[in-house]
Amino acid sequence: MGNIVVECIVQTTLCLLTSYSLGVRVSDVQLIWPNKDLTLRASGAREYEWVDPTDRRMREPLKLETIKGPPPNSSSNILAIGDGLDVLEALAAGTTVLEGGIRLVYIDPPFNTQADVHQYDDAMNRSMWLSMMRDRLMALRPLLAEDASVWVHLDDAEVHRARAVMEEIFGEKAFVASVIWQKKTSRDSRAAFSTNHDTILVFAPSGPKKWKTSRNLIAKDTAHLLNKDNDPRGPWSDAPFTAPGYRSAQQYEIVTPTGRVLRPPRGRSWYATEPTYRNLVEDDRIWFPKDGDGSPRLKLFSHQLRGLVPFTVWGTSDTGTNDDAKRHLMAMFPDQEVFGTPKPESLLERVIHIATNPGELVVDIFGGSGTTAAVAHKMRRRWVVAERNTQTVLDFLIPRIEQVISGTDPGGVTEKTSWVGGGSFDFVHVSPRFGKLTGSDRVAAIKRNFSRSLAPSGFSKVS
Ligand SMILES: C[S@@+](CC[C@H](N)C(=O)[O-])C[C@H]1O[C@@H](n2cnc3c(N)ncnc32)[C@H](O)[C@@H]1O
Repeated sequence: MGNIVVECIVQTTLCLLTSYSLGVRVSDVQLIWPNKDLTLRASGAREYEWVDPTDRRMREPLKLETIKGPPPNSSSNILAIGDGLDVLEALAAGTTVLEGGIRLVYIDPPFNTQADVHQYDDAMNRSMWLSMMRDRLMALRPLLAEDASVWVHLDDAEVHRARAVMEEIFGEKAFVASVIWQKKTSRDSRAAFSTNHDTILVFAPSGPKKWKTSRNLIAKDTAHLLNKDNDPRGPWSDAPFTAPGYRSAQQYEIVTPTGRVLRPPRGRSWYATEPTYRNLVEDDRIWFPKDGDGSPRLKLFSHQLRGLVPFTVWGTSDTGTNDDAKRHLMAMFPDQEVFGTPKPESLLERVIHIATNPGELVVDIFGGSGTTAAVAHKMRRRWVVAERNTQTVLDFLIPRIEQVISGTDPGGVTEKTSWVGGGSFDFVHVSPRFGKLTGSDRVAAIKRNFSRSLAPSGFSKVS
């Protein structure tokens, strides 16, 4: 028993010390795992290697090569083949791409479900998965803009551990919300529970109170607005002309068009003082229902409606399902085996809308089929997306972005964002420091296959 306690103390101390040396913000309660004091670096095209952070090889610069476009700069959109951590380091060290600061990080990493996903490894050893996440989030932290937020999309396999890791990196006070996204509507009758949600952890290093002042509200649905009095300013909604509490300046008599004399209900006041009320009447902003006999109501036109604070539970009618995302990809790539775990564009549209404004930088270092890049582009944000799997980039990401740019993708949020095409992106490659790239993962092969893919016959499978 005593040995176990000593072992725990030694491990915890080691972990605290190394956490400090890795620059992690230490709180008094921590998750520990084997090799936490090492960093997990990409090795070759698919593997990882544990490396001591002081290893001299870590000081060697990473090799960033441009495959398409001019050398990347602070106004480029970037698609990178490479491990997310290597790509961030290479862009930060050798370019101005990240200089303005990242406003939004959305990542949808492998969930570590131990299931067989066709396009990538989703069965990592747990300590590797935790270090993989910790090291990539740590690399993002100093690159964030002041009012940035970091959204990490996971399921129940690792979400509880990931939250502990994010608290270590950004601090407990940076936690904003766990968004529950309903990912499907069909039921699995063989399971103990038919899981139909994912969780998106939202952190803002500035803290939720400060971040709240710069995040966007969700647009109110204006379909319910009516024009009951043919107001030339258009349809409107209405709200009671009262406010809670007793305020003496807001206690006066209002006479309805039918001649009834009204005072505010007990314990309430009118919404505004008498002079303001008179101005509103003059401006035809007060509505008396029941043919002029009801209590006064304030007319609110669409531009005056305050948006809605986002709920933490997001349903399929607003943010789609995994199957919606697959159908969209199948329409774009009818001859291809569909990408295993795409997210719907409507989900990304909501995340990007809440967290950014046009022109700001969105980063995703687990690019997959390119949903983040496509939606950020349609919403006129700048984007940097990294994906490690060469074939995924050539089969899905590039042709998808090309369709967005040429205005030939009518699916997803194209209509909602009034997207008609335009813009560009630079395509780069970052080689890992460790291991070797072979076959179709070599830069020369990627360049060859990329230029072949630009031929009229379109993208071909890399051989
Ligand atoms: C769940 S998928 C992302 C799906 C994406 N959100 C979409 O809508 O298509 C995760 C992706 O991360 C990639 N990936 C895994 N480890 C990576 C790493 N270290 N660096 C960059 N990409 C990685 C995988 O190849 C896979 O394509």
